[in-house]
Amino acid sequence: MTDLDWVPPGIDTTRPSAARVYDYFLGGTHHLPVDRELVGHIEAMTPDIGATMRANRAFLQRAVRFLAGAGVRQFLDIGSGIPATGNVHEIAQAEAPGSAVVYVDVDPVAVEHSRAMLAGVAGTGVILADARDTDRILRETAELGLIDFGRPVAVLLAGVLHFIPDEADPAGLVAALRSAAGPGGYLVISHATADGQPPEVIEAQKLSSRTGTGIVLRSHAEIASWFDGFPLVDPGLVHIPLWRPGPGETVEHPERFGAYAGVGAA
Ligand SMILES: C[S@@+](CC[C@H](N)C(=O)[O-])C[C@H]1O[C@@H](n2cnc3c(N)ncnc32)[C@H](O)[C@@H]1O
Repeated sequence: MTDLDWVPPGIDTTRPSAARVYDYFLGGTHHLPVDRELVGHIEAMTPDIGATMRANRAFLQRAVRFLAGAGVRQFLDIGSGIPATGNVHEIAQAEAPGSAVVYVDVDPVAVEHSRAMLAGVAGTGVILADARDTDRILRETAELGLIDFGRPVAVLLAGVLHFIPDEADPAGLVAALRSAAGPGGYLVISHATADGQPPEVIEAQKLSSRTGTGIVLRSHAEIASWFDGFPLVDPGLVHIPLWRPGPGETVEHPERFGAYAGVGAA
């Protein structure tokens, strides 16, 4: 792609972006040579990575459908990414018209695209913020007036917490958002793991630091501990394709998808 009109001013186009790398893996059109170069390196070391990212997106969509079916009408999607087919509001509003969705991302490219795509779409809003700044996220979400924290909220943290290093206290971040979900709300997490993965995955993890937001792979036990107070709905915290697959969907060697997914109920 040579037309860079879609890149907001002030973006460092010499450094890969996690949001654009993910967009590439999902088959989107918003990525730069520097992103594709990194994708090439990562894919050479971990050929399953693209499948894992697509499986992550499919999990998020199944989870949102499940939540809408369970009566949730408010969604706070943190680390929402560049808009792609089957965004959270599209799934939620198809299942439950009138659902409200607030998107949050730290990447201005993702936020600009979300703003452009959501202009005029009722019930949706976008915030540029770091997931670590939970006070700001909750304050700005309340200011948008789309989500009523007195009613159940699904807090979506899909494919984002592995960008939060241990020193930034991801457990504390999740705990701060837990109260926002409220009774009847839900917590959704998907997260990359090294569990059962070959050594190349660890090497590829090191490459991810080039995006400025390196990835931290965590164990099942560590991720499960964040659901404290949010009992996991069936089937628990599992490799992503195993979370309520669609009818007839079977997956061989689900452990090759190096990520876990779970949904907890408040
Ligand atoms: C792998 S994408 C996931 C997109 C979407 N949630 C999904 O699961 O399909 C990760 C997104 O998290 C965003 N991100 C990374 N670190 C973040 C942070 N500290 N705060 C907010 N967003 C962050 C990236 O910009 C990127 O858009």
